[in-house]
Amino acid sequence: MEEAKAWGLSNSVQLRPMRVEDIPAICEIEQEAFTTPWTSGAFHNELTHNQFAKYIVLECDGEIAGYGGMWLIMEEAHVTNIAVRSKFRGLKFGERLMREMQRTARLFGAVRMTLEVRPSNIIAQRLYEKLGFYSVGVRRGYYTDNQEDAIIMWAELPDDRAAESVRSQRNGAAAETE
Ligand SMILES: CC(C)(COP(=O)(O)OP(=O)(O)OC[C@H]1O[C@@H](n2cnc3c(N)ncnc32)[C@H](O)[C@@H]1OP(=O)(O)O)[C@@H](O)C(=O)NCCC(=O)NCCS
Repeated sequence: MEEAKAWGLSNSVQLRPMRVEDIPAICEIEQEAFTTPWTSGAFHNELTHNQFAKYIVLECDGEIAGYGGMWLIMEEAHVTNIAVRSKFRGLKFGERLMREMQRTARLFGAVRMTLEVRPSNIIAQRLYEKLGFYSVGVRRGYYTDNQEDAIIMWAELPDDRAAESVRSQRNGAAAETE
């Protein structure tokens, strides 16, 4: 955590689509972050064969600090994974990745987003709640490593253009009454 706090505003942070050559670094983060990490083959397949998949990485000073992915199917986005390298946690990188995924999902026409999270993963739940997710139920024994349940969460993805239109209508109405 001390190391993380040493990273400040002077660091350059960039969000971009994940590429095949990122996979070795992504797999290192997977190993750090999850008890049942995805294989490099799984990521390779996602990037090269899954037309529904969108994966992004966050780079800090050229180093991959985190990544996130989702499947975009019609009006729904399903988050498959999100992780931040341990030394970069607590710097809002997870939040930036999630916000970027929400923005991208909206751009591609999704109106809602879903994910699963372990009941024991309070940090991830706090992050999701902050971004508008709420729990709707439980998948019993979802996680194969310890048979832990999964909390199913959903969030609505408001259309920015609709929100902007509502705002301008309100401003127009306010101006007319002045
Ligand atoms: C979950 C994870 C991606 C969060 O990434 P992060 O970059 O450390 O989180 P951020 O700095 O963006 O924090 C955003 C919000 O998450 C929550 N959060 C982050 N760290 C927290 C902590 N230590 N305790 C409680 N809430 C925390 C807070 O709501 C925080 O917002 P706030 O700072 O305004 O309170 C990261 O902890 C991780 O990679 N964990 C391992 C993999 C994982 O569990 N992925 C999710 C699977 S469902």
